[in-house]
Amino acid sequence: MGKDVIIACDFANKEEVFSFLDKFKDEKPYVKIGMELFYGAGPDIVREIKKRGHKIFLDLKLHDIPNTVKKAMKVLSSLDVDMCNLHASGTVAMMEAALEGLIREDGTRPLLIAVTQLTSTSQERMESDLLIKEPLDKVVMHYASCAKSAGLDGVVCSPLEAGKVHDVCGKGFLTVTPGVRFADGDIGDQVRVTTPAKAKELGSDYIVVGRPITASADPVESYRRCVKDFLE
Ligand code: C5P
Repeated sequence: MGKDVIIACDFANKEEVFSFLDKFKDEKPYVKIGMELFYGAGPDIVREIKKRGHKIFLDLKLHDIPNTVKKAMKVLSSLDVDMCNLHASGTVAMMEAALEGLIREDGTRPLLIAVTQLTSTSQERMESDLLIKEPLDKVVMHYASCAKSAGLDGVVCSPLEAGKVHDVCGKGFLTVTPGVRFADGDIGDQVRVTTPAKAKELGSDYIVVGRPITASADPVESYRRCVKDFLE
């Protein structure tokens, strides 16, 4: 499965996302669509971006009872997305049901990636709010193993965790990693960041890059820089 740079298109509406994508004349970047854009613009936004020739990671992080997730995944799969995701905390049964729902009539399906513990969850909050008393990194690796045993393709994690995920779940288990910044760029609200070159060295399979590209004065040049540093 190919490595790639995915642009997090965290725009509020269709006009903004299209004016951004129009800047790319010679390449068709892999695009991540999140909740804000999907809920605001509706499923047509996926169809339209797909029609323009982009691969799509639909980042909706599903979490519900297995039957509901299975049916919802069937709908998402029919939008012809290339990658989608869910919360591993929904249990192995939910992840298995999700996979079943994703399989299209022709036997193909999008890649399915699990969110383990959100990076916004601290050890302290996990213990007090979720009553999980184990160390956070152990919980993350356990959720990754559950995702692997359910048949999923990989997890979202920090590039700094990619090596350990590969050690625990195998080289072929995908690591999709946000938290990427250029060495000379703004960190913004991310805390633990890695450059595209470092993410490559650490074994990330896909880097998810938002503001270093979307808020750049020259997004196409910034995208090319990511591709060069991460893929070449
Ligand atoms: O702009 P930036 O490069 O920080 O964007 C990163 C993208 O990855 C955003 O869409 C963010 O919601 C997402 N993400 C993240 N950290 C996670 C999971 C998702 O930054 N743990």
